[in-house]
Amino acid sequence: MSGFETVIYEKSDAIAFVTLNRPQSLNAFSVRMRDELFEILSAIKADDEVRVVVFKGAGERAFCAGADLKEFLTAPSAIKARRIRAVRDLWRLFLGMPQPLIAALHGYVLGSGMEIALFCDLRIGSPDVVFGLPEVGLGILPGAGGTQTLPRILGLSGAMDMLMTGRRMDAEEALAKGVLNEIVSFGELYPRAKSVAGRITACDPVVIRYAKQAVIKGLDMSLDQGLELEWRLARLARSGPAAGE
Ligand code: COA
Repeated sequence: MSGFETVIYEKSDAIAFVTLNRPQSLNAFSVRMRDELFEILSAIKADDEVRVVVFKGAGERAFCAGADLKEFLTAPSAIKARRIRAVRDLWRLFLGMPQPLIAALHGYVLGSGMEIALFCDLRIGSPDVVFGLPEVGLGILPGAGGTQTLPRILGLSGAMDMLMTGRRMDAEEALAKGVLNEIVSFGELYPRAKSVAGRITACDPVVIRYAKQAVIKGLDMSLDQGLELEWRLARLARSGPAAGE
């Protein structure tokens, strides 16, 4: 896949690399970026060769500084926005990705940038990472899942704090509170993400997919239902999907 303007897609050794590529705008999330990400993630989802995905931001200053504020004044009407979302719901697509997603984060990780990171299963950051959800200060709600994903990762109190005050969080705090899995130097960020991805691709891809499914789906179930799901997937993993139910 090639020919994208705002995103770079690369594939190597069963790892897909998706780079947000508008460094002159701190990789701000534009309509075009949304459409290109939708196309790329749809293709990755259907590509069994891809066993893990690494997201990163181009340039040295940001993973993504949130929604493109220069497009704000040209935002479509509510009806048009609803119609677009019905056919191209990027956030549900993120949620339904069967492969593990790794975010390699540096610099500003704001608004939809943070929300993309929160849809990932692992987050590795460099020491200069700054997380924030500034939406309420702009008079809008986070619209990329942040109100739902952040409390699941950070807990209720921390999520309320960030969502309602727009308070930023640095790398050390994010690590202490479980938003980041680890901090590595900027120079080590992509090699480390690649090596973590390599550890995942060394495992049985079906087992990895089922493990992710059990965790993500189980989060929205009672413990009893979650145990049932885990048992069913463990049995399927042993017998292989071909013998499935
Ligand atoms: N949308 C569009 N352009 C953006 C952007 C955004 N969200 N964030 C940064 N940019 C652009 C700036 O306009 C600037 O472009 P220019 O050089 O053509 O003027 C360039 O990226 C560099 O940003 P700048 O503001 O000069 O850098 P800074 O170091 O002074 O500040 C930030 C960095 C991230 C603090 C600041 O850019 C900012 O607050 N951005 C908006 C964050 C935000 O509210 N996002 C929306 C969430 S819903």
